[in-house]
Amino acid sequence: MNCSFDFKDKIVVITGAERGIGLALAKGFAKAGGRIVIFGILDEEFPNAEREIRDAGGECLCIHADVSSEQSVIDAVKVTKETFGRIDILVNNAGINKLFPAEEMPLAVWQQIMDVNLTGVFLMCREVGKVMLEQGTGNIVNVASMSGLIVNPLPQTQCAYNSSKAGVIMLTKVLANEWAERGIRVNAIAPGFTKTPLTAARLSNLEDPAVKKWIGGTPMNRVADPEEMVGLVLYFASDLSTFTTGTCVPVDGGYTCL
Ligand SMILES: NC(=O)c1ccc[n+]([C@@H]2O[C@H](COP(=O)([O-])OP(=O)(O)OC[C@H]3O[C@@H](n4cnc5c(N)ncnc54)[C@H](O)[C@@H]3O)[C@@H](O)[C@H]2O)c1
Repeated sequence: MNCSFDFKDKIVVITGAERGIGLALAKGFAKAGGRIVIFGILDEEFPNAEREIRDAGGECLCIHADVSSEQSVIDAVKVTKETFGRIDILVNNAGINKLFPAEEMPLAVWQQIMDVNLTGVFLMCREVGKVMLEQGTGNIVNVASMSGLIVNPLPQTQCAYNSSKAGVIMLTKVLANEWAERGIRVNAIAPGFTKTPLTAARLSNLEDPAVKKWIGGTPMNRVADPEEMVGLVLYFASDLSTFTTGTCVPVDGGYTCL
């Protein structure tokens, strides 16, 4: 058995990898030989992402794609298939969050979070899944959240986000089961609090009661760096985990133990 991560020439599609956790994952795959395709909406971040991935030793194609739009996903997958002929690995990382008390959550915001976080993962899996089923092989890793496993203590009022991420964890199990005998594995990671643009504004104020609870509630007494998500995602995507499918593993400094 090859015990190192080797993704030489593997086509790796990662959604939302223009920055944050997605970019760290893209650089991790690039260092291990993967050829990266980013599906994202922040076009202004594309040049920086491309440069960082090239500096990590890889190559990168950025495609403007909104994962919440069925047509956008269909078009972007088609371009990828036409360009590379195959898709070996899909990482569904794109995600958003907006906080409202449940009784004040506007339906449009609830819907937007579901559209990106859950329907987006479904659409990506459906379209890339067709390519992988045709190939008879493929590997999908979903970036869920520990918020799909537990309820974050107040003042985090994020009923839509938590529900969407719980949905991602169940979708991971369902697809793993449907495709288990057809060459496709599907797993998920559940990050804890991580330093990214999504959390930067809050993390800049250590007196923020939410930040105090995030850090204080984490046995390791800190938040994660995005790079700390790389190892598990590469493991799931590699041949070191060939009997592992349908699972979700927290990477949370021990938060969900409590
Ligand atoms: N940062 C954390 O503490 C944390 C914790 C648990 C889970 N997560 C999850 O990790 C993933 C990455 O989050 P992050 O913290 O790096 O946030 P981020 O805001 O830095 O990155 C999110 C990425 O998703 C992309 N995106 C948003 N909407 C999109 C759409 N409609 N189509 C395509 N791309 C879209 C953005 O362009 C961005 O590149 C998300 O799914 C998030 O829910 C983050």
